[in-house]
Amino acid sequence: MSFSITTTTAPTPAARRAEILADPGFGRFFTDHMATAEWTVDEGWQELRVRPLEPFSMHPGVGVLHYGQEIFEGLKTYRHADDSLQLFRPDMNAARFARSARRLALPEFPPELFLEAMDELVRIEADWVPPHGDEASLYLRPIEFASEAFLGVRSSRTATFCTVASPAGAYFTGGVRGIRLWVTTKYTRAAVGGTGDAKCGGNYAGSLLAQTEAQEQGCDQVLYTSGPPERRILEEAGTMNIVLITRSGKLVTPGLGTILPGVTRDSLLTLAPEHGLVPVEREIPLPELVDGCRSGEIVEVFAAGTAAVITPIIALAGDGFEVTVGAGEPGPAGLALREHLLGIQHGDLPDPRGWMR
Ligand code: COI
Repeated sequence: MSFSITTTTAPTPAARRAEILADPGFGRFFTDHMATAEWTVDEGWQELRVRPLEPFSMHPGVGVLHYGQEIFEGLKTYRHADDSLQLFRPDMNAARFARSARRLALPEFPPELFLEAMDELVRIEADWVPPHGDEASLYLRPIEFASEAFLGVRSSRTATFCTVASPAGAYFTGGVRGIRLWVTTKYTRAAVGGTGDAKCGGNYAGSLLAQTEAQEQGCDQVLYTSGPPERRILEEAGTMNIVLITRSGKLVTPGLGTILPGVTRDSLLTLAPEHGLVPVEREIPLPELVDGCRSGEIVEVFAAGTAAVITPIIALAGDGFEVTVGAGEPGPAGLALREHLLGIQHGDLPDPRGWMR
């Protein structure tokens, strides 16, 4: 089984594409093709195609529109100096996509087909991958959703896989200058046994109101906690995992369970020892973060994700508190890890673990 390829007869004109690539922002523009596949309970995965991007036509009764049975992924392609186009750890995304599918009672898209879809889409959209030397990349967004028109609450007997591609610059316009997080105690993101560790659209839909609250408080993003008020535990920042650097040289991040198992998070835990940092995954109570920023025990905080890469957190605010992290500017450990990761991704630093495909 492999993907059939149909090339568009109406590609974006080269001049327009160059204009977009010069200032892509995040998620605003789409390339000319998409990869799709259809699943039925009787036939399995079929109709594997890379074809011109076009709107879906769907019955208003399909499961995804009623019960949100949907998952997604996010991964980036980089142009290396030798002009090769390289994906960062796509096997991690393929595996997580399958895990998310299981949690949302969707059929697993086989990881080898996932990788083939990414390869073929990148190949056909090669001109959309920004030049080597730019910080930009081509972001791939695989999705899978329930496509059966049926109003009973049960898993869909048909599903659609699709991947679109979108040139990506910085996720936050503030970028490396650092952002402010609002620690919400009003909203939670996930609970034990919920869908917090799956990458499903519903997690993000539920985060939008909290994000509005954060913006109303003059912050850029929300930071979620869980647990009773007297013992709030850090979770994640909604679109990114959270990482602390301690004065004693530890890189500390919440353990897995109810948070998204981020590819960037995993990569930082792996790279930490090369930066003289001891990687630690554990529960982090909110008071430890707040008091640690005040006492200087926590010297840096940053957020990590595919879209946001490493984004320094320069201040945190919540109900009744506001703290500055370190000197209120991006710290050296976060910046060094960011340079290291980007260096591997863009092919300018060695990749001893074979992370690039
Ligand atoms: C990513 O970092 O790839 C994400 O999926 C986060 C977000 C843009 C939803």
